[in-house]
Amino acid sequence: MRSTAKAAAHPNIAFIKYWGNRDNDLRIPANGSLSMNLEGLETQTTVSFDSALEQDQLVLNGEPAGEGALERVSSLLDRIRNLAEINTRARVMSENNFPTGTGIASSASAFAALTLASVTALGLCLTEKELSQLARTGSGSASRSIPGGFVEWQAGTDHDSSYAETIAPPEHWDLVDFIVLVSREHKKTGSYQGHRLADTSPLQKIRVADAKRRLDICRKALLEKDFPTFAEIVELDSNMMHSVMMTSTPPLYYWQPGTLEIMAAVQSWRMEGLPVCFTIDAGPNLHLICLKDASEAVKRKLGALINVKSILTCTPGGPAYLLEPEITGV
Ligand code: DP6
Repeated sequence: MRSTAKAAAHPNIAFIKYWGNRDNDLRIPANGSLSMNLEGLETQTTVSFDSALEQDQLVLNGEPAGEGALERVSSLLDRIRNLAEINTRARVMSENNFPTGTGIASSASAFAALTLASVTALGLCLTEKELSQLARTGSGSASRSIPGGFVEWQAGTDHDSSYAETIAPPEHWDLVDFIVLVSREHKKTGSYQGHRLADTSPLQKIRVADAKRRLDICRKALLEKDFPTFAEIVELDSNMMHSVMMTSTPPLYYWQPGTLEIMAAVQSWRMEGLPVCFTIDAGPNLHLICLKDASEAVKRKLGALINVKSILTCTPGGPAYLLEPEITGV
């Protein structure tokens, strides 16, 4: 038996963050989160199930992947093989059109594309909800890269109730995300270990207890396109997550001097009336979110800051999609 499919997915940027799990194996998060898919960046993944293979193989950006990455991929493939009631191993080839390990969440697009390609190659007919649940078990944020546009991940309490859905299509709001790289260094502690440290911070309980309030404010501001309210809550949520990170045992300090320079600059630009705010994931680089009308001005101002190494520009993106279903001899 040989069956192949190729799928693509965009990474996403969370406006209300996922940090910490109530169940690490299933990735049932401590709180719900809300994000925007990033058009302009994508992962393309080809999955070939092949009875001639003795074990799964993983090639990332043309290089054979390390043990850790392969294990993570195999465990998602196992889940999908169980659904299809087969045992056939697969060859997975995945390419990003953006730099890996720079704090741009490649695991989100990678596991979303892997889920869609694998399920299609095996001829399984799954709903978007089921795809999102499956992608979640590979990487939490991948659940949000299955649906398109602006997406909310319901935390839920078990596998069935934890999945992401579109709350508004990409064309709902003309936002621009400038991903500002202040460092190209590979981060020392990734989200995988970070989620496991969240509960060691005395601030995590407070962050989680207040998450519904922040989500409600953010969702409403997004649906009403109320940028000032949106900007305040997005920055607060990012700062709360980083407060948890910094007060974990051991502490995680992701910010670098350049990060702080740009955070302060964004604050003063907004006070001058420019509709822009920042949010930062598990790394030193920033995402500056602004209204499209303000994007030229934001870019010009960024050009004057010494710590800016490079900038990637994204707009609201669509759902994970298929490139090549090519199924032979299942
Ligand atoms: C800071 O989804 O990368 O980007 O489930 O272990 O793969 P795993 O973690 P991941 O965590 C993302 C954390 C974040 C915030 C967010 O995207 O919500």
